[in-house]
Amino acid sequence: MSVNKVIKRISTSLVRDMKKNGEKISMLTAYDFSTARILDQAGVEILLVGDSAANVFAGYDTTLPMTLDHMIYHAASVARAAQRAMVLADLPFGSYQGSTEDAYNAAVRMMKEAGVHALKLEGGLEIIDNIKKIIQSGIPVCGHLGLTPQSIYQFGDFGVRAKQETEALKLKEDALALQEAGCFAVVLEKIPANLAEEVSKSLTIPTIGIGAGAGCDGQVLVVNDMLGLTQDFKPKFLRRYLQLAEDIKQAAAQYVSDVKSGDYPNQNEQY
Ligand code: KIV
Repeated sequence: MSVNKVIKRISTSLVRDMKKNGEKISMLTAYDFSTARILDQAGVEILLVGDSAANVFAGYDTTLPMTLDHMIYHAASVARAAQRAMVLADLPFGSYQGSTEDAYNAAVRMMKEAGVHALKLEGGLEIIDNIKKIIQSGIPVCGHLGLTPQSIYQFGDFGVRAKQETEALKLKEDALALQEAGCFAVVLEKIPANLAEEVSKSLTIPTIGIGAGAGCDGQVLVVNDMLGLTQDFKPKFLRRYLQLAEDIKQAAAQYVSDVKSGDYPNQNEQY
């Protein structure tokens, strides 16, 4: 039976069971109360409060400017909306890569002030002690490997990662280390599909792919992209389910015309 019919709140053990049972996991990003409420009602299992808010909400080129305060504001809005979905929040750049204590303090602030259920951190062995510290304090952690946008200036571009053997090998080691550290899942972003499938088969925890092919245990998309709100971002992996930018433009233009012509408001739309 699909989890959609019976579960009150999606938990980490449930997503692990979904992998075991071969049921794919759906994840979408969310940044605000109204959208999160709709996605939750639609049955999305995990709402990711991604630091991609920096791009789609704030208009930055990278995710680096996002602060812990920004992320807590977005995460709390989503957490207030989600009745059933697990709310997973990104820790932003600079909040967890330093000392173990910094990482722990950032994680605790996010959990206490936003009321989310789990945290996502980018990176593998380099930050494994910090991840372990967070997990040891009772907070579920999801890893994130492959294209990790907080390291964009090290990569140089947003291209496919781990195409070369050495990087692929490191990714496999990182994935295993994350699982051994106690992560409940790992996001694989923009890596070759055959590598993502191999990693997914080698792990007992679920992999959630974005631009990582069909072999992952689940999929995640940025909600603004899949709804067609973002206009100039067209990677190969993106499927647009709506063309909201066009619809909103038409609706706004109609409103402008109605206001100017005096058609709005009419007799029934006033007191
Ligand atoms: O911030 C984000 O939206 C993400 C997804 C792209 C996985 O990390």
